[in-house]
Amino acid sequence: MRVLRTLVEARAWRRAAGATVGFVPTMGYLHEGHLELVRRARAENDAVIVSIFVNPTQFGPKDDFSRYPRDEARDLALLEVEGVAAVFMPTVEEMYPEGFATAVDVSGGLTSVLEGAARPGHFRGMATVVAKLLSIAGAERAYFGRKDAQQLAVVRRMASDLNLAVEIVPCDTVREPDGLAMSSRNTYLTSEERRAAPALYAGLRQALALFEGGERDPAVLREAVRARVVVEPAFALEYVSVADPETLAELDWVKGAALVSVAARLGRTRLIDNVTLGERG
Ligand code: PAJ
Repeated sequence: MRVLRTLVEARAWRRAAGATVGFVPTMGYLHEGHLELVRRARAENDAVIVSIFVNPTQFGPKDDFSRYPRDEARDLALLEVEGVAAVFMPTVEEMYPEGFATAVDVSGGLTSVLEGAARPGHFRGMATVVAKLLSIAGAERAYFGRKDAQQLAVVRRMASDLNLAVEIVPCDTVREPDGLAMSSRNTYLTSEERRAAPALYAGLRQALALFEGGERDPAVLREAVRARVVVEPAFALEYVSVADPETLAELDWVKGAALVSVAARLGRTRLIDNVTLGERG
């Protein structure tokens, strides 16, 4: 497994790699959710490249950039086991040299709502770094988790709008046995918060059960999620949304598919999760 630290090394690796390359962008501190993306990429391509880069521009001033967990040696060992061909681990200076002045701004409703409303500038930073990483990796396919459904929607929009020659492949959310979606940020939780955390997905499952029983009123679905989450008093709910999975516009009635997403704080930690009702895109 090659560890690539510069753009020059990464481009040289891509030129020498097999016919098809699968790319998995990450911020490291890898867990089974990331590794499922890697396995899918391996199954569908001749070679896999993973990036590990905690991207400062997608964190706000009050976000957790400086305390975001990092463990380079452990990440590399996990990726080696998965048969990854190359890991791109640039420095901040390598990605944003002096004079850097360009941003990718996916405008409109897709980035102004939900996580975009809660974290101003987040999607601009994310889309910019993903555009850069996609350009550097030169992959045929890039793998993204449905855990971050809005991120996936923004990346799909950007790839389509900019005619990027890469297929964006969505991957299912990997969960702990008690339902909590895996996340590098789960490591922030105290043992008491960790015990309460599965209520988020339990709430989403309530909405799913109601939908399967024929319920189509977003207000009823939202209330079902809220009621289940607030059973755990440690949770401070930020939003529950029932939206169009592609445009993220709030629905006044569920006719086709719907994305039910939720964000809540548990102590100092902000958790997000979602499920799709009906056919997934
Ligand atoms: P990160 O949070 O490290 O996630 C990297 C990828 O793993 C994303 O596509 C994310 O959706 C996926 N992922 C995370 N948890 C998952 C889970 N439990 N199940 C399935 N997939 C999961 O998302 C980012 O990094 C960054 O924003 C990045 C795209 C790398 C740009 O900086």
